[in-house]
Amino acid sequence: MKFYVTTPIYYINDLPHIGSAYTTIIADILAIWHRMKGDDTFFLTGLDENSVKTVQAAEAKGYKDIQKYTDEMAEKWKNAWQKLNLTYDDFIRTTEERHKKNVIKFFNKIYENGDIYKGVYEGLYCDGCEEFKLEKDAPDGVCPIHKKQLKKIKEENYYFKLSKYRDRILEHIEKNPDFIKPEKRRNEIISFLKQGLIDTSISRPGLKWGIDLPIDKDHKFWVWFDALINYLLPEKYWPPEVQLLGKDIARFHCITWIGMLMSAGYPLPKTMYVHGFFTVNGQKMSKSLGNAIDPISLSEKYTIDGIRYYMLRDISLGEDGDFSEVALKERINNEVVANYSNLFYRITSFIQKNYNGKLPSANYSEKENEILKQISSLVKRYESEMQEYELTKALSTAVEVSTIANKYIQENEPWKIIKENKEKAGSILNFGAQLLRTSVLLYYPFMPNSGKIACEALGIKPEWKDVEKPVLKEGHELKAVMLFKKIET
Ligand code: MSP
Repeated sequence: MKFYVTTPIYYINDLPHIGSAYTTIIADILAIWHRMKGDDTFFLTGLDENSVKTVQAAEAKGYKDIQKYTDEMAEKWKNAWQKLNLTYDDFIRTTEERHKKNVIKFFNKIYENGDIYKGVYEGLYCDGCEEFKLEKDAPDGVCPIHKKQLKKIKEENYYFKLSKYRDRILEHIEKNPDFIKPEKRRNEIISFLKQGLIDTSISRPGLKWGIDLPIDKDHKFWVWFDALINYLLPEKYWPPEVQLLGKDIARFHCITWIGMLMSAGYPLPKTMYVHGFFTVNGQKMSKSLGNAIDPISLSEKYTIDGIRYYMLRDISLGEDGDFSEVALKERINNEVVANYSNLFYRITSFIQKNYNGKLPSANYSEKENEILKQISSLVKRYESEMQEYELTKALSTAVEVSTIANKYIQENEPWKIIKENKEKAGSILNFGAQLLRTSVLLYYPFMPNSGKIACEALGIKPEWKDVEKPVLKEGHELKAVMLFKKIET
C-alpha cells in the first residue's frame, strides 16, 4: 500500500508559528503511522516563495536581493522543522528549477486544450490571501482574515476556464463522500459551488517576482496557480491519499486545484482534509495579526511530544481551538505523566528491580483474556479512526487503552502480591507489560520522540504488526525509563 500526504506550502514572510506547525504535525502523525504499518509512505511539505508577500517582507527587512532572503528564510523554516523532528520525505521550494519545470509542463497541458484566455480584472485584491475578493466577501473593503484594506486594481490577466469544470467538480464531491472531510467543510464547498463558479485568473502583469508565463513575458503566474502545482512533485506517488489544509484555503484546494487537475487530465487526490484554526483569544493566530506563538520555544519548555499531544487531544481536529498554556500544562501533567509515563516507569522499574529486567512468565486468567478482547476491539477502532483522519478520536482511543492498563495494575497491586507470591506478581507484571507495549505503539505516531525511547526500553521496534497481541515472551529484556517529567511551574 502507498500513502502520500501533503501539507500546504508555507509563505515565508515570517517564521513558523504553532498554527503552521499544526498542519505539519498532523501530516507527520499520519506519515509515521503508515510507516509503522509498512506502507510505502511519502510526506511532502515546503515553502510558497513566489508571493508578493515575500517581496514586501524582504524589502521591509532591507534586502535588495530577494533570492537571498528566500534562501535564508528557507534555512530557518527547515531548521525549525528539524528542531521539531518532523519526518518529511521531501521539502519543496517554489523557487527551485524542478518546481518551475513542473509549472510550465502543467500550464502547457491546459493551454493546449484551450482552457486559457486573456481578460481584464477589475476589483479588489488582498496581498495577505493572495486572492481576488468579491465585494460580497468584503463589503467594507477590508479583508475579513487579514483585517487590512483591500487594493483596488484593474489589470489584464490570463484566465483559466474554471467555470467549465463546475459540474464535474460538484458531481465528484457529491459522489464521493470521503473526498472532502469533515462533512461540515464538504457541505460548505457544495453550497458554494451551487451558487455558480467564475473563471479564475492565473497570471498577473507587472510583478517583479515569480515564475514567467511562457506565452507572455509581461506576466508572472498568479502565486496560487504556481503553488498548487507543487503537490505533483513526487510523480511516482501521485495521487495523494490525503491533502491537509486549513479552512482558509479550502476553496483553492477543493475547487480551483481540482478544476486544474481535471483540465490537465490527472487523477484526483482521494481526500482533502480541512482542519480548523488555532486561535488566540478567539482570533486566528497569524504572522500578520502579530499574535503568533513560536513552536520551538514552546517545545523547549513543554517537550515536542507534549505539544503534539496537546494539539491533537485538546483541539478536536477539524474544529477551531483556542491555544491555552494552562490547558497544555494540565494535559501533560494529568494525562501524559499520570496515565502514561508513570505507568511505563512503574511496570518497567518493578520488573527491573525484582526480576532482573527479564519479563516473568505468565498464566493469564479469564479476566485477563477478557481485557485482551477489549484491547483488540479498541485497536480496531483506533485503526479505522486513523484511516478516516479522525486523529483526535484515535488519540482518545489510545488514552482508553492506557487507562485500562493503569486500572489493571492499580487493581491487581503486584507490589503487594510480590510479598506472598512472586510468581503471581510476575504474571500480573507480564500482562501489564503487554498492555504497555500496545499503549506505546498506539501513542507512537502522536509522541514519536518519547516513543523511540519507550520502544528501546521495551526492546521492541515501532511496528504495527500484532499491536494488540501479548507477543512479548518470557525472559524478554526490558529497562526502566522515565518518559516525561511533571511540569512544575
Ligand atoms: N501559501 C499558502 C498555501 C499554498 S498551498 C498550495 C498559505 N500559506 S500560509 O503559510 O498562510 O498557511 C499555510 C497553512 O497553515 C494553511 O493550511 C493554514 O490554514 C495553516 N495555518 C496558518 N495559520 C493557522 C492557524 N492559526 N491555525 C491553524 N492553521 C493555520 O496559505
